[in-house]
Amino acid sequence: MLRTHYSQDVDTKDYGSTVTVAGWIEDIRNLGGIAFLILRDRTGKIQVTVIKKETPELFKELVSLSRETVVSITGLCQENTQVMNNWEILPQQAHILSLAESPLPLGVIDKVGADFDTTLDNRFIDLRKKENQSIFAIRDAFLTATHHFLHSQGFLEIHTPKITTTSPEGGTEVFSLQYFDRKAYLVQSPQLYKQIMMATGFDRVYEIAWYFRAEEHDTSRHLNESTAIDLEMAFIDNEEDIMKMAEDLTQYIMIYLTTQRKSDMDILATSPEIPQTPFTRITYDEALDLIQKKTDMTWGDDFGTLEERLIGETLQETFYFITQYPLETKPFYSMPNGKYARSFDLSYQGVEIASGAQRIHQHDLLQKRMAHMAMDIDNFSEYLKAFRYGMPPHGGFGLGIERFLMELLQVGNIRKCILFPRDRTRLTP
Ligand code: 4AD
Ligand code: MG
Repeated sequence: MLRTHYSQDVDTKDYGSTVTVAGWIEDIRNLGGIAFLILRDRTGKIQVTVIKKETPELFKELVSLSRETVVSITGLCQENTQVMNNWEILPQQAHILSLAESPLPLGVIDKVGADFDTTLDNRFIDLRKKENQSIFAIRDAFLTATHHFLHSQGFLEIHTPKITTTSPEGGTEVFSLQYFDRKAYLVQSPQLYKQIMMATGFDRVYEIAWYFRAEEHDTSRHLNESTAIDLEMAFIDNEEDIMKMAEDLTQYIMIYLTTQRKSDMDILATSPEIPQTPFTRITYDEALDLIQKKTDMTWGDDFGTLEERLIGETLQETFYFITQYPLETKPFYSMPNGKYARSFDLSYQGVEIASGAQRIHQHDLLQKRMAHMAMDIDNFSEYLKAFRYGMPPHGGFGLGIERFLMELLQVGNIRKCILFPRDRTRLTP
């Protein structure tokens, strides 16, 4: 195994000894008699200092290499307080592991930025940039924190089918596919399955879920393939139990990230505050009142991007819930409360990051709501069956991972928070 992660691994005890390191050549500065190679791996960079008159053949070979070539270098590790890490490598031997073609389709350290499509077209190089490595280190920690917290609350991680025959989330379209001789769809969310799980006795479940949504709109905060933390819990009193779980999870994640990923946060120049719980709750009616003068939407319409932002600006809160939406704005499975639904959205800086609700658990009421919404009940018979033989009261939420990260890190476009984004026009790489 070649030694990598050297910017972390090497310490003073290595000074004066021979080490072998490997990585990408990020930059070569050739000053004639001396050259400096900057070698990079995911933990950082080191300097390789090659002196022409001491190793003329090696000097010639190294300075002629193209940027982003992968090499392994064996040499003396020497203390030098003038260079980064306080040490450098004086090379004795080099192996070229993979020569990079030149010119690069995208620079890793170039000051002039490439346009966004070029960065995504060359995502494997784009992801070598330290800001992007930090985004995904933070994403990884976000998921670790989620697993920690939800397990501490007695949740079980599950995986449900992604190929299905139904479409639970009204208002967004499905991708269809050929399933042998039948038509099938990619799931919009695990909604129906996580509810069916409530009839199994696994009373707290969660999934790191994939959402496939054939939405036509092409915005900075929508993907056609996205991920979410989707959870469902039984024996709740009402939607308040779900909101409590959502805010406690959010706070835990924020504490975890700001302590465990501080250096990555620094690279992205962000230092978020830990939110206090409980988060502010305002009803749909109150939110509409707040922005009444600035919008022409009327009672019963859903908030759009503009309205969400206006509410955020008016409220001056980082995280807040909007509760009690008009029943007709929410999917069929939401529990009615008069003309309202026992539902909520969680907003982060004026952007919706999660939606949740208490669900209908009574078979007859559920069927009635589906009929009212002109849904094809036969198509949902497998789902409905789970409500006929003992279904406890339950509810849950779905929290968009990329949405959360986009707001947390203020990166301006949701595509930066998923490795290989799928949008209205992009299906590769
Ligand atoms: O609001 P949504 O559609 O709610 C549901 O899917 C419900 N099944 C959740 C529940 O348990 N009641 O999606 C939940 C979250 C959104 O708030 C948003 O953060 C994210 O998922 N999301 C998307 N993110 C990026 N691109 C898209 N097209 C998204 N659609 C939803
Ligand atoms: Mg929603």
